[in-house]
Amino acid sequence: MKASTDPIVQQKQRAALEAVKHVQDGFIVGLGSGSTAALAVEALGQRMKNEKIKILGIPSSYQAFQLAVDCGIPITTLEEHPVIDVTIDGADQLTPELYLIKGGGAALAREKIVAASSKLNIIIADQNKKATYLGASNQFVPVEVIPFALAPVKRKLSELGAKPVVREAKGKLGPLITDNGNAVIDAYFGEIKNPAELAVKVKMIPGVVETGFFVGLTDIAYIGTDSGVEKITKPKF
Ligand code: A5P
Repeated sequence: MKASTDPIVQQKQRAALEAVKHVQDGFIVGLGSGSTAALAVEALGQRMKNEKIKILGIPSSYQAFQLAVDCGIPITTLEEHPVIDVTIDGADQLTPELYLIKGGGAALAREKIVAASSKLNIIIADQNKKATYLGASNQFVPVEVIPFALAPVKRKLSELGAKPVVREAKGKLGPLITDNGNAVIDAYFGEIKNPAELAVKVKMIPGVVETGFFVGLTDIAYIGTDSGVEKITKPKF
């Protein structure tokens, strides 16, 4: 892990280093996507070299796959290991109840499959990701959609109160295409009062593959601060 002078990167690094302490020799590890999760993948590669521990990684995206290979983490699959010991991933927004929005990197579908297959889910983030409610600061909810269904899904999302925006690719004309060959609609709902209910309504729209709502999936969040790490654990309802 390269030393950084950027305080936000330092927060992400502190959170990543705390999270990888949960990984033990022989573990199957879900590898999250995005800039924060990437720091955890690097730290895991480092632990393998320094401590000679052996782990197998299940990447949640092509980005995570490539990085794992670069860091010397052997890859396995959900077919070979349907139960993951621990997954470490980032988030776009999280609340004190550990309601999350994910998918800023368009990896939401695989990230959710990996999270749902994990015995322990750890989220790592910097202070900017904290919010008192989902949808704060104009945060959108990514929704992965089969391209054939883009127009009807946009209409249904509008009926649910969102402003839907098809995410454009960078370096390619037209819509972004996910690792699964789908498009992404970024849905701007404003304040989301009941994420669990809205998540079900959006998921039920025909053509929706997955939503960026992660509700009830996260066990622990480590949020880096300027001097340490804040820990939030899943509330017992
Ligand atoms: C990827 O699709 C996302 O869910 C990321 O985990 C999320 O966007 C956080 O990314 P950063 O760590 O880069 O902010």
